[in-house]
Amino acid sequence: MDVDRKELIAGLGGEAAVKSMDHEARADALEDFLSSRLDAAIAARPGAKAFPTVAEHENRVDRRGYRRGVGRLFLHEHSNKNPDADESKLRVPRLAPMPAKPTLVDFFNYRFTPAAHLLQSAALAKRRGTSEEIILACLLHDAGQGLMKTDHGYWGAQIIEPYVSQRVVFAVKYHQALRFYPDPSVGYEYPESYFQTFGVDYVPLPHIKAAYEYARNHKWYMEARLVTTNDLYSFDPSVQVSVDEFTDIIGRHFKQPKEGLGYDNTPVSHMWRTMINPDAPL
Ligand SMILES: [Fe+2]
Ligand SMILES: [Fe+2]
Repeated sequence: MDVDRKELIAGLGGEAAVKSMDHEARADALEDFLSSRLDAAIAARPGAKAFPTVAEHENRVDRRGYRRGVGRLFLHEHSNKNPDADESKLRVPRLAPMPAKPTLVDFFNYRFTPAAHLLQSAALAKRRGTSEEIILACLLHDAGQGLMKTDHGYWGAQIIEPYVSQRVVFAVKYHQALRFYPDPSVGYEYPESYFQTFGVDYVPLPHIKAAYEYARNHKWYMEARLVTTNDLYSFDPSVQVSVDEFTDIIGRHFKQPKEGLGYDNTPVSHMWRTMINPDAPL
C-alpha cells in the first residue's frame, strides 16, 4: 500500500508531534495508520460493504428536498445509513411550548436533538473521571446541530460562549476538526461511520485541516481531544441517561441567565429563541 508521507505526518499531528514520539510510538502510529487505510481500501473494494464515494454523495444533492447540513430541529429524522429511503411520508414532531424563562436543562428536555447522544457521551466522560468542564463540553458538544449540522462545532461553541469558560468553548469548537484525525496516544481512530457519512474517499476541507493543526498545537488540545474520545459513534438505545445526572455540573459551570436563555440580550440570544420557536415563519 502506498503511504503518503505528508498525510501520515498530518494525521499524527504534524512534524513537531512526530519528532516528540519515540520509535515504538512511531511504529505503533504507522501500524494504526496502515490498518485504517486498509480498512478504507477494503471497504471501497467492489463487492465489499459498499460505502459511498464523495462523488456519489454529491450526485444526490438535487435528488432530495433538503440539504444535509440543515439543523435537526428543522427536518424529520433521517438516516445516513439509508440515504435512498423514501422520506416523502416522514414528518417533524409537534414541539411542546417552553417555559417563559428557559434554562439549559429545559433545552435538554424540550429541544436538543440528539439529546441521548449528548447525555451518553457526557456519562461516558464522567465514568472515565474526566474534569467537570470537559463533562460539560461533552454534554454540549453537538448541541449546535439543532440549529445547523454544517460546521456544528462552531455553531455549538458560539451559542454557549457567554455562559461557559473559554476552555469549554474551545473543546466544543475544535472537536469538529479533531474527529477526522486519529490520535493513537489516546486510542482515537477515524470513525468507521464517516466512510458512510462523508464518503469513503473524503478529505477534510482546508479550513478544517487548518483548525486541526491549530488545535493540535494549542495548550488546550487535550480538552478538545477528550470530547472526540467520549463521542459515541454507535448509540445504545437501551441506555437511558437523564440530564438530572448533570444538574450539579451545569450549576457550577454554566452561567444560567436569570431572564432565561433567549431573553438575556446577548449576541446569541436570537439563536436560543430560534430553537425555542423553530416554527416561526419568518
Ligand atoms: Fe460533533
Ligand atoms: Fe457527537
